[in-house]
Amino acid sequence: QGDKMMAGRFVGSTDPIMEMLSASITVDQRLSEVDIQGSMAYAKALEKAGILSKTELEKILSGLEKISEEWSKGVFGVIQTDEDIHTANERRLKELIGDVAGKLHTGRSRNDQVVTDLKLFMKNSLSIISTHLLQLIKTLVERAAIEIDVILPGYTHLQKAQPIRWSQFLLSHAVALTRDSERLGEIKKRINVLPLGSGALAGNPLEIDRELLRSELDFASISLNSMDAVARGTLWVMEFLSVATLLMIHLSKMAEDLIIYSTTEFGFLTLSDTYCSGSSLMPQKKNPDSLELIRSKAGRVFGRLAAILMVLKGLPSTYNKDLQEDKEAVFDVVDTLNAVLQVATGVISTLQINKESMEKALSPEILSSDLALYLVHKGMPFRQAHIAAGKAVHLAETKGITLNNLTLEDLKSISPLFGSDVAQVFSVVTSVEQYTAAGGTAKSSVTAQIEQLRELLKRL
Ligand code: ARG
Repeated sequence: QGDKMMAGRFVGSTDPIMEMLSASITVDQRLSEVDIQGSMAYAKALEKAGILSKTELEKILSGLEKISEEWSKGVFGVIQTDEDIHTANERRLKELIGDVAGKLHTGRSRNDQVVTDLKLFMKNSLSIISTHLLQLIKTLVERAAIEIDVILPGYTHLQKAQPIRWSQFLLSHAVALTRDSERLGEIKKRINVLPLGSGALAGNPLEIDRELLRSELDFASISLNSMDAVARGTLWVMEFLSVATLLMIHLSKMAEDLIIYSTTEFGFLTLSDTYCSGSSLMPQKKNPDSLELIRSKAGRVFGRLAAILMVLKGLPSTYNKDLQEDKEAVFDVVDTLNAVLQVATGVISTLQINKESMEKALSPEILSSDLALYLVHKGMPFRQAHIAAGKAVHLAETKGITLNNLTLEDLKSISPLFGSDVAQVFSVVTSVEQYTAAGGTAKSSVTAQIEQLRELLKRL
């Protein structure tokens, strides 16, 4: 506010360090384009309200047009006294068209202006993020369709649990991401509400046509309450950062799984060189940097959410300068999501799976729950069957052999229900094919999942 904007009330100049602390232009110049869009719409509404004449409107519009060109050509000259993008654009407008520029802000406040700008920015950003997210989900689903016959151990507690289809693993991540995509869609609805015309807090005193503003700026509806509308941080900014955090947590889980599977100890998959880096010291190294970055960015995004929650906590109603903090968080999270989603898609689409390592890891003990199930099918209550199969695992362990190498005699010593048909238990294909109930890892249920996800993707 070093310029003459507040010259009526203020005498003397602002402390230069205070000026630096207060300025947001380095961050919010990213809103230059939407700020001009908002001003153009507002100028039209002012003309309709009789505040601007036709010629004045033309002047303002062409001046704004010129400023937009300057921004896009990268020649807009920010000066030291430009506090934020709103004052910068208005200062420039006055330089270009003279005093009539001073009519543009009639009945408007930077409070409804900035939230309108940020919402316009977010509408666009959300579409881009959603597109990248859908691309990632699609990549997981299509990969699952192609590699449906690949079987590997599934883990709980990071201990081998039961055999699953590789596709079941891929789809588990795809399904989680579809929920995040739905959440983003929900936020879009709430962002799509026009705040302009709320003034500083009390509303607009010029009978401004907010419906005109809405249609000019392509919002779906008009905010219901001016005080609520200018307190932008309290609603959708928090919501966006929260959903972004959930999404990042999902991505970091997927990244962590893939990091583990790509170690030489697991050897289930090989990441493309495109998404790895080497070591400056150890020539043999190929590090999964892309996945580690995805994992770490989850922390970064959550940090942004935490910061904004702290800023908002205890803030009184309507606009407070504290809210200025939200833009940096929003921009950073938008950029992070866009980068991370594209890299994740790249990693998934280029990694190679190593079926032999997966097969080798499918050691027979992984079928011990199937051994119990075998006894269940022979009529034994599951709790007893679990104990019997556990005894078989123990016996094999003490004999130093694998579960499938126990003789029929060995097994009969545990339960007389074991018969020669027990041999068929020791097939991972037979095992996964039992899980035909919806959502399971049998081929038929995985295929059904793929079909449903393909349908859902059309609607997301
Ligand atoms: N740069 C400010 C922000 O982003 C614009 C709103 C300023 N409003 C005010 N009353 N000082 O929050």
